[in-house]
Amino acid sequence: MPQDRTPKGALDRVLTIEVMRVTERAAVSAARMRGRGDERAADQAAVDAMRRELNRLAIEGIVVIGEGERDEAPMLYIGEAVGAGGQRVDIALDPLEGTTLCAKDMPNSLATLALASGGSLLNAPDVYMEKVAVGPGFPDGFIDLDMPADEMIRRVAKEKGVSEREVTACVLDRPRHAELIETIRKTGAAIRLIGDGDIQGIIHTTEPMETGIDIYIGSGGAPEGVLASAALRCTGGQMQGRLILKTDEHKARATRMGITDYERIYTHEDMAKGDVYFSATGVTDGALCQGVKFYPGYITTETIVMRSSTGTVRTIKAKHIDYSKFLLD
Ligand code: FBP
Repeated sequence: MPQDRTPKGALDRVLTIEVMRVTERAAVSAARMRGRGDERAADQAAVDAMRRELNRLAIEGIVVIGEGERDEAPMLYIGEAVGAGGQRVDIALDPLEGTTLCAKDMPNSLATLALASGGSLLNAPDVYMEKVAVGPGFPDGFIDLDMPADEMIRRVAKEKGVSEREVTACVLDRPRHAELIETIRKTGAAIRLIGDGDIQGIIHTTEPMETGIDIYIGSGGAPEGVLASAALRCTGGQMQGRLILKTDEHKARATRMGITDYERIYTHEDMAKGDVYFSATGVTDGALCQGVKFYPGYITTETIVMRSSTGTVRTIKAKHIDYSKFLLD
């Protein structure tokens, strides 16, 4: 009888395959809406499919990072219970990361999901978060969010043993980042500007030889910050995030989620603890995964699925011949 090597207290490893099915289904549904200029419809297609698939899993899941708070999101809202019963897990999801990219049929939109033992994921409101992330191999805490961006670049260059000119930072292309971009450019470092999709931008720091990205800096969605943290827990690397709570309403939402220190800097380990799974399936073609392809008689998907307790990262290409199950979506 083969031994189950799953570490004590870890999630059932069969879930690695199950989480992948969930993002595959969401990606296929969203892919049908590629290039139709309708962000809302694309997102809804992904949400419906993801919810349906989550409800088939042998889990007792609670959506911790979802489509919004209960009063604003009818499905996959924060606090929604999903699953057919089983191990108690926390779920962070973004059924369509890069809705605009999908609606415009541009590269790099993904269906994403993270799953962790119950009580392990940060309950974060849907506000902006300041973020900095680097891949594995750097000393712990050698950069932090309170450091000016030029100092971050200098430290990355020093640790890599290269000049600042050989460092590349990934930044979301937004007017709010104008000053940040200028500061980084003054060091001589290069900048990879991305239109959307900072989960992927952060994951790219973990493979700098492949992607050319050494550091991610800037503000983006807090939910995406928690999802990226889950991925970094699996791949190695470091991330820090701080919620941007500008208004009383933001603060009230954070308080309702149990956040009392509004200035707190969270590490990736604060945002995603314990045994964590992360899965992302390409909707449109991208640097992380190929998008969904529709052939006569079958569909192909590509998914990257990871697990923190083993550090295994799998890229799984699937050919779905019995695609009748997708027709539901
Ligand atoms: P959506 O898929 O929800 O549109 O998010 C895309 C995204 O680019 C995220 O990756 C990022 O965290 C966030 O938007 C940034 O927000 P904004 O577009 O408001 O700058």
